[in-house]
Amino acid sequence: MRKGIGRGAATLVLLAGLPMVGSALDNGLAKTPPMGWNSWNKYACNGLNEKVVRETADAMASNGMKEAGYAFVVIDDCWQTSRDAEGNIIADKEKFPSGIKALAGYIHSKGLKFGIYTDVGTRTCAGRPGSAGHEYQDARQYAEWGVDYVKEDWCNTLPGQNAESSYTLFRNALAASGRPIVFSICEWGSNKPWLWAGPVGNLWRATDDIQDCWDCKKPRGGNGVVEILDLMDPIYSYSGPGHWNDPDMLEVGNGGMTTEEDRTHFSMWALFSAPLLVGTDVVNMSKETKEILLNKDVIAIDQDPLGQQGRRVKKDGDLEVWSKQLADGGRAVVLLNRGATPATIEANWTDIGYPASISATVRDLWTGKETSGQKGSYSAQVPSHGVAMVTVRP
Ligand code: GLA
Repeated sequence: MRKGIGRGAATLVLLAGLPMVGSALDNGLAKTPPMGWNSWNKYACNGLNEKVVRETADAMASNGMKEAGYAFVVIDDCWQTSRDAEGNIIADKEKFPSGIKALAGYIHSKGLKFGIYTDVGTRTCAGRPGSAGHEYQDARQYAEWGVDYVKEDWCNTLPGQNAESSYTLFRNALAASGRPIVFSICEWGSNKPWLWAGPVGNLWRATDDIQDCWDCKKPRGGNGVVEILDLMDPIYSYSGPGHWNDPDMLEVGNGGMTTEEDRTHFSMWALFSAPLLVGTDVVNMSKETKEILLNKDVIAIDQDPLGQQGRRVKKDGDLEVWSKQLADGGRAVVLLNRGATPATIEANWTDIGYPASISATVRDLWTGKETSGQKGSYSAQVPSHGVAMVTVRP
């Protein structure tokens, strides 16, 4: 070793060029959780087509969603049919007669961004061609089409296939395409992606597919909203700007839950700093659904620049208190009633990381009611399967 530079300094210089395990993917994207719309929860395979996507983009650009921050329009499984002789991916010509590049251009002309879906394996979950063996070719094609967001699924992979290296391959392919593209990892939490995906993807599914129901764990997979809450809580520390735990796309507005339950679902996703991918028909959504999805105060909690994932700080049977620190030092707090009857739930200042002695302004984000000079704790009557969601600011 040359004189003048010690072993420690040399190691530091070397390490400075390497991504740190657990740090965010260095593509500068998704500093706040991505917001947008995805076709799957409402339209699945058979309902997806160009007309639906164009009408969705039209609605998002004119109904307040774009202004509220919903930027991405993502087509999920079933846009693709086959590959040509050179291996280029071919879109379904009947369902997407203008082609994907024209669709991306249309979405961009509305001031929105365009996302697409593929799979690590040979086939997608719906049996369409996956990206195995075509990673660089597909990434180059997506960039040429103007894709801004890629979701990569995990169906039809090989037994024992290494998820970290498979997703790293696609990350590298996207980086080589030269276009900034948000990378959404979708292996359903099977390989504990929170432990390795920080430097690989901007978001990763932490759980199996969401079902449009409150409490409906299925023996063969899928989770209702409350099962997802319990799966997300222990992994709160792995989420942050550029690298998010993803509890799956929203079911708000799809009819399987009451308005109260939809409001709870949305509030908890915001408390999680979760990606907010609307999964309903936004052209014909009800007034109630629109009021939930466009609540700017709740969206601001999701998009808070500190990017902390909220966690459960108190549990008394079905009554829970969840809290999240905000960039300005305030707290977002959710009083959650999982039980069958209305109940009063109390959050003490000491539960949310404040001394009992302070006095604070409490603002209810669903009713708009503000109380100043609140001392020691806050409590509210919460309906069955409902929440009170507030900010607490000393
Ligand atoms: C998996 C994913 C879903 C959706 C479907 C498409 O189940 O987890 O989000 O993309 O595949 O087939």
